[in-house]
Amino acid sequence: MEITNVSEYEAIAKQKLPKMVYDYYASGAEDQWTLKENQHAFSRILFRPRILIDVSKIDLRTTVLGFNISMPIMIAPTAMQKMAHPEGEYATARAAAAADTIMTLSSWATSSVEEVASTGPGIRFFQLYVYKDRSVVTQLVRRAERAGFKAIVLTVDTPRLGRREADIKNRFVLPPNLTLKNFEDLDLGKMDKTNDSGLASYVAGQIDRSLSWKDVKWLQTITKLPILVKGVITAEDARLAVQYGAAGIVVSNHGARQLDYVPATIMALEEVVKAAQGRIPVFLDGGVRRGTDVFKALALGASGVFIGRPVVFSLAADGEAGVRKVLQMLHDEFELTMALSGCCSLKEITRDHIVTEWDRPR
Ligand code: FNR
Repeated sequence: MEITNVSEYEAIAKQKLPKMVYDYYASGAEDQWTLKENQHAFSRILFRPRILIDVSKIDLRTTVLGFNISMPIMIAPTAMQKMAHPEGEYATARAAAAADTIMTLSSWATSSVEEVASTGPGIRFFQLYVYKDRSVVTQLVRRAERAGFKAIVLTVDTPRLGRREADIKNRFVLPPNLTLKNFEDLDLGKMDKTNDSGLASYVAGQIDRSLSWKDVKWLQTITKLPILVKGVITAEDARLAVQYGAAGIVVSNHGARQLDYVPATIMALEEVVKAAQGRIPVFLDGGVRRGTDVFKALALGASGVFIGRPVVFSLAADGEAGVRKVLQMLHDEFELTMALSGCCSLKEITRDHIVTEWDRPR
């Protein structure tokens, strides 16, 4: 049957994938309240479309950290994509390049930075988890630089792994034919089977819980690449991100996989945007499944959005073609939303094009 929207890929992925893998991709933390909320909160924002505006030409192009891309829709880092499809991160990289947008590669990819670079040209960011052993981090950042990655996306919401109960029940572990490819040569590419989520045990063993703002400064001493801080959801932390030299902020709750009962990212966005005072761009991820969601995020001040699960689910369903289709559908839906709201370019999208449930009556 023909696929007509991004969400339809989830059911296909669920059918195709082993339960352990599907559960890992789909799950959120604990009660999964935030997981539902990430998507649901978009429905509390309605449009105030403007009419009788010439929308015969619509321009979706934008610039992110100086890179010109086809649309403000990019790919979030999601780990271990070869569990979804044998081509894994290669397929995602090719689909992103074909769509002329940015892919973020996870530290925990099942393909290395060099392998992903070998797929050809494309603008790519590298997501960084900070290991206790800082020489591991230094080496990895150098390799990402050499492989042509254009920014570091520093994930700051994971000093420990959130409790994803399905992964605990399934004793989730990376399948034996795969490795966390970036760490293979460092002997950190495997995950042991434990009486817990194997990933949670891996994180407890390797990831630096003491990570703090001073390390954002440290990172700036080992790389010239711009650093996006991913996982900010408060005004306080947005101000600190600006103060500590971040090149941008990603408003993210890690796809609701870390702390449960944090607000949907779309509800936290505006306070972060206000606190950043236009000094650095603010992006959003979490629950984006429609072009209308993209528009709402931009109306609330985001410079762009990233998508996570839609990529792994479409990858599982149909490999590179699936990811291409997801990007195309979101592009087309977003373009249509702009036309029907009376916006010809991204800068014409304003706060007045939407009304949120939490706005005072006008
Ligand atoms: C993630 N996310 C994530 N984030 C990160 O910084 N490093 C990572 O390795 C991963 N891995 C990962 C795996 C899977 C299966 C998921 C679903 C998510 C979080 C990701 O970058 C992003 O924040 C969310 O996925 C966005 O929410 P949606 O689009 O999945 O709703």
